[in-house]
Amino acid sequence: MTMYNLPVERMTVSPPPRLRGTVRVPGDKSITHRALLFNAVAEGDATITGFLDAADTRDTLEAVRALGVDVDEPGEGRLVVRGRGRAGLTEAADVLDCGNSGTTIRLLSGLLAGFPFMSVLSGDGSLRRRPMGRIVTPLRALGAQVTARADGTLPPIVIEGGPLAGGQHITTPVASAQVKSAILLAGLAADGPTQVTEPAHSRDHTERMLGAMGAEVAIEGMSVTLEPPDGDLQAIDVRVPGDISTAAAWIVAATLHPDADLVLEGVGVSRSRAGILDVLRAMGADIDLENPRVVGGEPVADLHVRSAALRGVRVDGAIVPRAIDELPLLALAGALAEGDTVIADAAELRVKESDRVATTAATLRALGAEVEEHDDGLAVAGGARLRGAPVEAAGDHRLAMLGAVAGLLAEGETTVSGAGAVSVSYPDFWGDLARVGAAPVAART
Ligand code: S3P
Repeated sequence: MTMYNLPVERMTVSPPPRLRGTVRVPGDKSITHRALLFNAVAEGDATITGFLDAADTRDTLEAVRALGVDVDEPGEGRLVVRGRGRAGLTEAADVLDCGNSGTTIRLLSGLLAGFPFMSVLSGDGSLRRRPMGRIVTPLRALGAQVTARADGTLPPIVIEGGPLAGGQHITTPVASAQVKSAILLAGLAADGPTQVTEPAHSRDHTERMLGAMGAEVAIEGMSVTLEPPDGDLQAIDVRVPGDISTAAAWIVAATLHPDADLVLEGVGVSRSRAGILDVLRAMGADIDLENPRVVGGEPVADLHVRSAALRGVRVDGAIVPRAIDELPLLALAGALAEGDTVIADAAELRVKESDRVATTAATLRALGAEVEEHDDGLAVAGGARLRGAPVEAAGDHRLAMLGAVAGLLAEGETTVSGAGAVSVSYPDFWGDLARVGAAPVAART
């Protein structure tokens, strides 16, 4: 049997005659991070079911343990977090290694701003290039003592935490759930309400989960106000839905492949995450939401996706943060649609795990698409005839999956270098690719 979840360097993909089957995508990354972090500072034990077991969420898990919280792993996709209450974390003996994970470093920084000890947070080469001024500045405004490399803008981040002043209103220039969440988590240690206003709605898992744990969370327009609970947050069991950002690879593959019929089971379809469904439907995609239900406070459905002919669209404004991690795949959809596709207002793409404007353009161009790079997005000419070629993951899990999906649709062979990057969010991606009928070939070098 071929094992696909090895740290293979290169994988070769070619278009299968058909894509068929049912995929249960792994648990949602954003929700797994939050279930671990918030339950760590809650009162009581919490069981997390269906958690994402991948490099990013393991970094959060190990950080929580390093801060003195017991997390058991009884198996069967479950974790049990032994919450230590709002004052329960203890100083870590070493740097908290956040790996490749922006969510880990930013949410943890917000949380630790309120704890009376020193924390140092850092990560891999990609993470150490990502902007941290966006959390350092507001955390300082809340009264936290936070410093960071390069004049407060890059990791490592150093925090000397302590009680924070309440009654603060922060306006953030970026629509970012990581920034919003960092501010709200710092607000848990404040002696009054903390309000954050963002320019557009970003994903709302933090608001939902903290609300369910007993914090008072009020949402009005673009603003969220958190009133910390008098006592502790209450631990809650969390059933983690499937991650729409990983499902996106299959949604786009099945839509664009000429003979496809895929069911993606148990995918979270919260409005704040489901922008990709709105964009693809506007392009003409055939996606049915079957068996809609609520799992762990989040709307969930089975997504039934069949081949469809697409037309180009413009993606901009408020939908961008609702589809931020799926934009590289939407650019690929644009290349194979009729007419042009423009992605704008998406400068955030440049500060993800890679500069995704540049890396998406490079991937699509290597396969023969015509792509213009803009400061805030991409213009993609439709009607491309893609031809297999070598492509680079650039150390970015989403780019590795983009290359593989493009390889399902391009004539001939596409070889993805750095294919092991999928371990960040979807360790069994290559195995699932084989399961839907497109066995990739591993080239160990
Ligand atoms: C995330 C928020 C998004 C997203 C990231 C996960 C989260 O980042 O790109 O993969 O879990 O809060 P921003 O909110 O900073 O855009």
